[in-house]
Amino acid sequence: MTILLLGSGGREDALAWRLAQSPSCQRLIAAPGNPGIARWAQCVALDPCDVVGVVALARAEAVDFVVVGPEAPLVAGVGDALRAAGIAVFGPNADAAQLEGSKGFTKDLCAANAIPTAGYVRVATVAEAMAALDTFSIPVVIKADGLAAGKGVTVAMTRNEAVDAITRAGDGAMVIEQFMEGEEASLFALVDGPHAVAFASAQDHKRVGEGDTGPNTGGMGAYSPAPVLTAALERRAMDEIILPTARAMAAAGTPFSGVLFAGLMLTRDGPSLIEYNVRFGDPECEAIMPRVEGDFAALLYGAATGALSAPVLSDDTTMTVVIAASGYPGTPIAGGTIRGIDSAEQLGGVSVFHAGTRLDEHRLVASGGRVLAVTAKGSSLADAHARAYAGVAAIDFADGFHRRDIGWRELERVS
Ligand code: AMP
Ligand code: GLY
Repeated sequence: MTILLLGSGGREDALAWRLAQSPSCQRLIAAPGNPGIARWAQCVALDPCDVVGVVALARAEAVDFVVVGPEAPLVAGVGDALRAAGIAVFGPNADAAQLEGSKGFTKDLCAANAIPTAGYVRVATVAEAMAALDTFSIPVVIKADGLAAGKGVTVAMTRNEAVDAITRAGDGAMVIEQFMEGEEASLFALVDGPHAVAFASAQDHKRVGEGDTGPNTGGMGAYSPAPVLTAALERRAMDEIILPTARAMAAAGTPFSGVLFAGLMLTRDGPSLIEYNVRFGDPECEAIMPRVEGDFAALLYGAATGALSAPVLSDDTTMTVVIAASGYPGTPIAGGTIRGIDSAEQLGGVSVFHAGTRLDEHRLVASGGRVLAVTAKGSSLADAHARAYAGVAAIDFADGFHRRDIGWRELERVS
């Protein structure tokens, strides 16, 4: 089949790499893609949120199947428009994308279906928020509603911090919720209406600094699987969180289709939902893709067309280390020269995915906050770690930085 992949980051480079290796993928087009994706796909300059343009491109190129990488086109209704045009799509319609687009929507769905999540109150004004604050113990979490790329969340360790966060947010939809104690893990599930199968687990590092300190980022590294999410806990997360969500969405007439990414807190009482995303994680996807065996394009196509099947993943462990441009997550330095990707990829088990790069004449330069996602596969986490950091060392990018401690929690447990 001819597949169109939407997006331009490291996640999409990893998806493109794996889709292009699939026997059922005859032709791969990416919009807009990036220089890494151009290794596996024909790139077309088109904004994935231009819903009309995406449908027109899919028609013009006789596309059989569209795989949507990021959430914004889904929230903008690209899934609806493609389905209306009779084109198969991996990714939910806009109404089901609310699971990511609106924190309040997801909290209400959890409450109505007894899905474990932190206790919460939805408020619409600063005054309501201040009044609600006194019904919570400290620490407390303040979340702006709507897509905020992880930046709309304050974990307030004192009442003053909470008051500051509410004041800064100003009037508008907000969720105030109870702080949960535990370790975080991510679970990815393929969902087709009321049906769901576990895909893979991972753990990412959202903070910019070593030891998980400093401001939040999109993610500075990840590894898969996350052994902290044991088979028994994964089963509980499927039974108590993912499946009830899939059934509730289907019953409401807004069935979910695609990958549901659950951010879980592993509390003393079991897995509890922190948030949903309606797409693969970035950089979790880069870590997961090298573990996928079999025809990945056929797996996603089946999930999108009523033939959901269980994925097969290798027993390898993978690790992704993000190289970001200096200044990230503030204003990153743009235009720094990148060399050495080929040398890194000559090392055993290493793949270098492009997250924020562009070609300046024939020179590869940085064009984003997160620039490269260096991924390695190993027989253990320590092995994957050694290989990934050897890959990072082979890359010459003077304006970049990376965390040296990706996977530290698990590495401490196994050593
Ligand atoms: P979110 O955007 O909802 O995933 O929140 C971003 C981060 O804030 C999460 O990855 C957690 O580290 C933290 N967080 C969010 N909600 C809670 C909570 N109820 N308890 C503890 N930490 C939380
Ligand atoms: N790495 C977290 C995310 O993709 O939202």
